[in-house]
Amino acid sequence: MPKIKKNKAESKSEKKDRKSKELSTVTGMRDILPQDQKYWEAVRATAQKVANDYGYGRLDTPILEQTDVFVRGVGKQTDIVEKEMFSFVDQGGDNLALRPEATASAVRAYIQHGLLNQPQPVKLFYVGPMFRHEKPQAGRYRQLYQFGFEAIGEASPALDAQLILMGWNCLNELGVEATIQINSLGCHTCREEYKKELIKYFKSKGKLLCEGCKSRLARNPLRVLDCKEEGCASLREDAPQILDYLDEDCKKHFMKVVEYLDELDVPYAVNPYVVRGLDYYSRTIFEYWSADDAEGKVALGGGGRYDDLVKIMGGRENTPACGLAMGMDRIVSKMREKEINVPEIYQPEIFLAQLGEVAKKKCFVLYEKMRRAGFSVAQAFYKDSLKAQLESANKAKVKFTLILGQKEIGDGTIMVREMEGGVQEVIDYNKVESEMKKRLEKYSELPAPIIIEADTDANIKAGKKNRKQSELDFAAGESDDEARIIDDLPDLAEDFDHLGGDEF
Ligand code: HAM
Repeated sequence: MPKIKKNKAESKSEKKDRKSKELSTVTGMRDILPQDQKYWEAVRATAQKVANDYGYGRLDTPILEQTDVFVRGVGKQTDIVEKEMFSFVDQGGDNLALRPEATASAVRAYIQHGLLNQPQPVKLFYVGPMFRHEKPQAGRYRQLYQFGFEAIGEASPALDAQLILMGWNCLNELGVEATIQINSLGCHTCREEYKKELIKYFKSKGKLLCEGCKSRLARNPLRVLDCKEEGCASLREDAPQILDYLDEDCKKHFMKVVEYLDELDVPYAVNPYVVRGLDYYSRTIFEYWSADDAEGKVALGGGGRYDDLVKIMGGRENTPACGLAMGMDRIVSKMREKEINVPEIYQPEIFLAQLGEVAKKKCFVLYEKMRRAGFSVAQAFYKDSLKAQLESANKAKVKFTLILGQKEIGDGTIMVREMEGGVQEVIDYNKVESEMKKRLEKYSELPAPIIIEADTDANIKAGKKNRKQSELDFAAGESDDEARIIDDLPDLAEDFDHLGGDEF
């Protein structure tokens, strides 16, 4: 029988089949791996610091809420509620939703826990994941992360200005350049008047509107103003502007906000086309746009006043409030794009290396002792080879490596290697903590230029010579064990080939 040659190339259907069997994240959602966490940690830490500075207390609300919290809170006719909510009926028949944002949840919590009896405003800070079933594209995730500040129970424009400043401070402290776009939506009364005029204007230009705006016009005419389609954007230039429709009180409020921002030297642009996509806003609204995003296509954050929301959600009438939320995914992405330096979350200072089973056991104990004493120590006890351990020490960028071998155990000592210069010393094992404290303190006192100086040719040569000499001094006349230690140091192995160290 002739052999049938198997076609090695995977067929399309096979590929599809295999893909469907592979387990992976859901569309629009992603893992944040350890190596990326430093950016997220920097953003969280900055947000927490700003919250502390301005007296905002942390609020954690459940990720799952009654769908009604958002239907009533965010608004039935918003994109978020109409199209983007992950909502479902649970086994008990309750209508639940993954929170698409946290302002409505914060207001629900304020009402539920009677926080209106506390000194006002109640200032809340949150950080966590939100969920929106948006079309996945750059900067748009279905599980997105926000941190935010909400101040409930205060009407003063000073609060609006301070919140705008807080978001600005967060971006500044993270090194992200941004612009602030502000506008006022007025109160319900002035906005209704304005909406009528806006509908009249856009209806007269009906043919030129994009399909989305044609259907949006009757339900949410303000959203036509922030449509990014070319036709709609060109029409808005002659459209009536909300600021001309503000009543006296709303106008005064807005003027005060900008006056405070001027006083604080916070730069801003009054932008009549910023309207925000959530229904609860009144008066001041604002967004933070990346300095290189002139049209605000992927805003870094936004917020505003929501004076009617507490009442809408069943709380006391006349409970004004203001807040903002920042998009952490977008801030992190900007920080990476701009190569902004952030500190490592885990930066050990000392590496603990061991040679032989007895030393390994001793190092286990020493590691715990040093960790409890507050040292930041790395180790690789699961590795036996000293070379491999020292490679790990190099990768971990520690300042010192402690090496414990047979001979040191016998002598009651431990070897310290200063990684930058390669200088090694043997110290009393019982004094390892105080000795390392001293060395680390001395190390941190070293002015940076010393390291830079070491880069000059002459210094490199001198440094190498000293290093080699000290190690030769050390190796000469010492036991095989120590000579092997030297031989195994990764960057020095070549220099000590003649010692013919054993492999570990
Ligand atoms: P928002 O404008 O819907 O406002 O969201 C705030 C920020 O979250 C946005 O500026 C953006 O950076 C980020 N964001 C929103 N959707 C996504 C997404 N799909 N993917 C990535 N990032 C996204 C609010 O959520 C209001 N709760 C803000 C607020 C607080 N207003 C008053 N208090």
